[in-house]
Amino acid sequence: MGKKVKKESETPCKETLQFEPLPVEAKTPATVVLLLSCPEEDILVKACEAIHKFAEKGDENKVSLLGLGALEPLCQLITHTNKLIRRNAFMALGIMATNGDIKSALKKIDVIASIIDKLSLEEDIVVHEFATLCLASLSVDFVCKVKISDNKGLPPLIQLLSSPDPDVKKNSLEIIFNLVQDHQSRLALHELGGIPPLLELLKSDFPVIQHLALKTLQNVTTDTDTCNTFREEQGFEKLMDILSNMDFRDLHAETLQVVANCLSDSKSLQLIHKGGGLTRLMESVLTPNLPEIQSNAVKCIARVAQSSENRKLLHEQNVEKVLVELLSVADISVKTATCQAVSVMSFHLASKDSFRDLDGIPAVVQLLNNESLELKEAATQALSNLTHSNQLNAFAVYEAGGDEILVQQLYGSCRRTVSNSAATLGNMAGQEVIRCSILSHGAIQALVEPLQSTDTQVLINTTLCLSVLACDTEARAELQSAGGLHPLVNLLRSYHKEVLHHACLAINVCASDVNTVAEMCQFGALEMLQEINLSVNRRSRFSELAMISLLNFNLSVKYSLTSHLASTDIISDGFYDVGKARAGQRIQTLEELSKQPVNEHQQIIVVNTATGKNKKDDKQKNETQPESPTEKPWKMMDDVSLQLLVNKAKKFILPLSDEREQCAALARLVSEAMGGAVEMEKLHEFPWVLHLSELKFQLRSNVVPIGLISRGIYCHRALLFKCLADCIGMSCTLDRGEYSRAWNEVLLFNGNPSMNERSSQPCRYIVDLMHQPGRLLTANTPAAVQYQTI
Ligand SMILES: *[C@@H]1O[C@H](CO)[C@@H](O)[C@H](O)[C@H]1NC(C)=O
Ligand SMILES: *[C@@H]1O[C@H](CO)[C@@H](O)[C@H](O)[C@H]1NC(C)=O
Ligand SMILES: *[C@@H]1O[C@H](CO)[C@@H](O)[C@H](O)[C@H]1NC(C)=O
Ligand SMILES: *[C@@H]1O[C@H](CO)[C@@H](O)[C@H](O)[C@H]1NC(C)=O
Ligand SMILES: *[C@@H]1O[C@H](CO)[C@@H](O)[C@H](O)[C@H]1NC(C)=O
Ligand SMILES: *[C@@H]1O[C@H](CO)[C@@H](O)[C@H](O)[C@H]1NC(C)=O
Ligand SMILES: *[C@@H]1O[C@H](CO)[C@@H](O)[C@H](O)[C@H]1NC(C)=O
Repeated sequence: MGKKVKKESETPCKETLQFEPLPVEAKTPATVVLLLSCPEEDILVKACEAIHKFAEKGDENKVSLLGLGALEPLCQLITHTNKLIRRNAFMALGIMATNGDIKSALKKIDVIASIIDKLSLEEDIVVHEFATLCLASLSVDFVCKVKISDNKGLPPLIQLLSSPDPDVKKNSLEIIFNLVQDHQSRLALHELGGIPPLLELLKSDFPVIQHLALKTLQNVTTDTDTCNTFREEQGFEKLMDILSNMDFRDLHAETLQVVANCLSDSKSLQLIHKGGGLTRLMESVLTPNLPEIQSNAVKCIARVAQSSENRKLLHEQNVEKVLVELLSVADISVKTATCQAVSVMSFHLASKDSFRDLDGIPAVVQLLNNESLELKEAATQALSNLTHSNQLNAFAVYEAGGDEILVQQLYGSCRRTVSNSAATLGNMAGQEVIRCSILSHGAIQALVEPLQSTDTQVLINTTLCLSVLACDTEARAELQSAGGLHPLVNLLRSYHKEVLHHACLAINVCASDVNTVAEMCQFGALEMLQEINLSVNRRSRFSELAMISLLNFNLSVKYSLTSHLASTDIISDGFYDVGKARAGQRIQTLEELSKQPVNEHQQIIVVNTATGKNKKDDKQKNETQPESPTEKPWKMMDDVSLQLLVNKAKKFILPLSDEREQCAALARLVSEAMGGAVEMEKLHEFPWVLHLSELKFQLRSNVVPIGLISRGIYCHRALLFKCLADCIGMSCTLDRGEYSRAWNEVLLFNGNPSMNERSSQPCRYIVDLMHQPGRLLTANTPAAVQYQTI
């Protein structure tokens, strides 16, 4: 055992051990082992001593003694009534137990209880020494540990921590260290008052004891109650003394870990702060030191910074300056630990600004060039924290060229680095100039692979980043051509709530161009979203938002699924009404529907205002669209009647000056086209069903152009009204009710015409197209409700 102060004395002095050599006659080991069963006490004393001597000479001797059966009698003799026999037997047993084979054999003999029994203070110090040596060997084994605890070994062992003999101290400490690897013993050690003697051992002259005491403290201070006791016993002061003593540098790394364990609560931090400990801690971080000590000190700071009160205190102590300096220390583990501390300190808002002001941001960006994966991970984490809700920091990363390096990190193999980089880029892309720069470095392309990750955090951060980046048509087109829409749509299969939310948000952003929408629909986005909408657990406002955004590009499907078109949804040629879709049902294309045989159930009303001439022009203009040579392309049926109605609306209704008049006139036009006013009571006599059947039969199709319908009711009239209103730029909705009911709602100012005065609030009206065409029914009045329902 090396000693600090008295370096010259390698082993602690042991007068008690200097007994006279006993006159053992030259006998074979076998004979001596036999003598262990002799009843004569004198012989027993000598035999034990001889065995001790013989065993001391080496492992071979110990094993041969085992073979000769020395173990059993020795285990008996340690409980002998004769003190000297006990002592010598323990010496022999203790030495032998350091051998692995003998340890295994000892485990099988029920000896632990008798050893513990001899740890009492009445026993000789030599007995203590060898009994603890024995237990120290055994206590690495789990079963033995349990036996030591069960036989109440801990109280006498704690007592022996204060033994005058350093070997006894060391052995007892070693046993205790082995015991406290288990939770129960850690608690027990604290309850039995083990902390004060442990702290006392920090002052030992023997480094091996100091190390062991620190390692034990490191284990037991993971428990809060133990930490409290530690504090009450001036544990911090003792550790600080070690930290400020440069002779104890070999202990600093371990000391700092104990400090870190106990500093997590702000009470402790205040305490050491008051004693100047915090300043000393930061100083010790910076003094040129062993990297292990520095990195432990930084970890200690990161640990302390877990609580917001502590962060405030550390900020006041200018911890950021220390951390920025540490970023340029050569050692990788110091840099990595420093980045981690920066991440944690970033929870304190003022700290983020300090890092920027101290030029810490270019320093962190610089670390991304290093090949160490751990360092990259920690540095990207720090950047994601520093740039979170801090535009100036985002700009500083950009100025340091961080955007380009971060895009490269997206190709990396470490998942955490990828997700941190994506998060940082997302934080930065809020500023247009940075977003453009990020895009110019190929970020969209780089995000496609992470979109296919199996890691939820990667998926969340990637989709989030995509939502910020893909906010213009060019970026979305890039995503499409890079093949990113398919993996994005596939994320709708996710059952992870957050992944799904973020995927829906990204899809919502991408649903801004007809091309991207068409492709996402092709990949089944709408069907998946409908399925999601059916599940109470998976449905959210995000999934609804994504679905509505996609549907806004496909009003036929929107009307079928939601039974509602807003005034901003402008019907165009090719719009078709297939009726209300069942939830989860795929809406067939117009072409598919046109090719189906006529049946009595289905009627699809289609809108087509284009003239044949126009269409021909289109075809000629577009030479890029190749026509299939074998198959004549399907084409929508012309609708001359609808064209005439559109022309009439433009000619007669558009010029009217008053909105109400326009509305009423359009309603009359629609009504006339579809069979005129029908009295409510005579509705059942109105022959619209027959008429439609005839039309379908004539057309040999379930698809009927709306202009051909000359007998139509609510649903046909409301659709025609919406279509014509959209053509002439009048605002109205289209809503479907039950049983072929549908209606249009218009928003009109409620004025008193004679006084030419308008109330400030516009009013909602339902337009009567059936009974008194042109009548405006104030929404939610009984008359309106009667119109909307059966
Ligand atoms: C106890 O501390 C040592 C380091 O001294 C560590 O290796 C070990 O994992 C710790 N054990 C427990 C159970 O915390
Ligand atoms: C990475 O960091 C280590 C330690 O600071 C340094 O020796 C090495 O040169 C660095 N590598 C690069 C590419 O900067
Ligand atoms: C900062 O980093 C931590 C991980 O150290 C992370 O859990 C947290 O969400 C981040 N906080 C902010 C504000 O970015
Ligand atoms: C991004 O991922 C990291 C894990 O790598 C996580 O700590 C962080 O909170 C995520 N950021 C956001 C904004 O979700
Ligand atoms: C709208 O949906 C129909 C039916 O699913 C489909 O045929 C059509 O291509 C879609 N249009 C767009 C622009 O997505
Ligand atoms: C989604 O489900 C809700 C609740 O069932 C329903 O009200 C809503 O109309 C559905 N949305 C679509 C677009 O189908
Ligand atoms: C012609 O077809 C191309 C490719 O399908 C399309 O991008 C373009 O908009 C079309 N032009 C017209 C005038 O329809």
